[in-house]
Amino acid sequence: MRDAPIGFFDSGLGGLTVRQEVLHLLNNENTVYLADSAHAPYGEKSHHEILDLSRKNTEWLIGKGCKLIVVACNTATTNAIGVLRREYELPFIGIEPAIKPAALGSESKCVGVLATRGTLSSALFANTSRMYAAGIQVIEQEGEGLVGLIESGNLKSPRTKAHLQALLSPMLDAGIDHLVLGCTHYPLLIPQLKEILPDQVKIVDCSLAVALQTQAVLSGKDLLRTAETPPDHQVYTNGDPAIANQMLHWLGHKPNVLLLQD
Ligand code: SIN
Repeated sequence: MRDAPIGFFDSGLGGLTVRQEVLHLLNNENTVYLADSAHAPYGEKSHHEILDLSRKNTEWLIGKGCKLIVVACNTATTNAIGVLRREYELPFIGIEPAIKPAALGSESKCVGVLATRGTLSSALFANTSRMYAAGIQVIEQEGEGLVGLIESGNLKSPRTKAHLQALLSPMLDAGIDHLVLGCTHYPLLIPQLKEILPDQVKIVDCSLAVALQTQAVLSGKDLLRTAETPPDHQVYTNGDPAIANQMLHWLGHKPNVLLLQD
């Protein structure tokens, strides 16, 4: 079982940013990544649709023999991880918006959260905010349209930058000093975000915390890979493999995406 891969799924390519952080920390692990781009964006789907897609992705990854699944999508985590943990035996690691570190680090007592509608409207998000951001003004902003722009390969276009500027302007006017990226797609926009945000606004994403948690769970279950042969990494998409390969290349990984017929 130690040799079995870590599985990842996301509504598309955003979770590659999480996979990248996990690979930095656990560079001897085999991985299988499923980009469900044909059904992106999850953030605009109903709770039940997100649950069904999350189950389908889980079963596909179990079919690939995974020993643990990283739900590399905030919307799927906030809507489905409790159910997945109840219905399947293997461990799941989820992605939660990093409100706690942002709230703890905020001097202006005002933080912004950019996330999908599906995440912002979830009970898990409301509970996290209530628990960790007491006394902090949390400005929520739905990143409407951003996932579509990213999935179509528009990372650096002037259109994407102008759209980001419009989305961020109310929270900048309110005086945020931390911006929480509440969707795994959004770290792909960090170069554009850095051009828009003033220097004092810190960008917070939770990929490192996810990697550390994955390591802790595998180590606790004695499931860390010990083989000395080079690890194998598979990436599947039911979207456009050319865009997925471009994203892998951009993140510094070998473009080796396989097409999955939906
Ligand atoms: C989406 O598919 O709408 C975004 C996925 C996420 O929330 O990370």
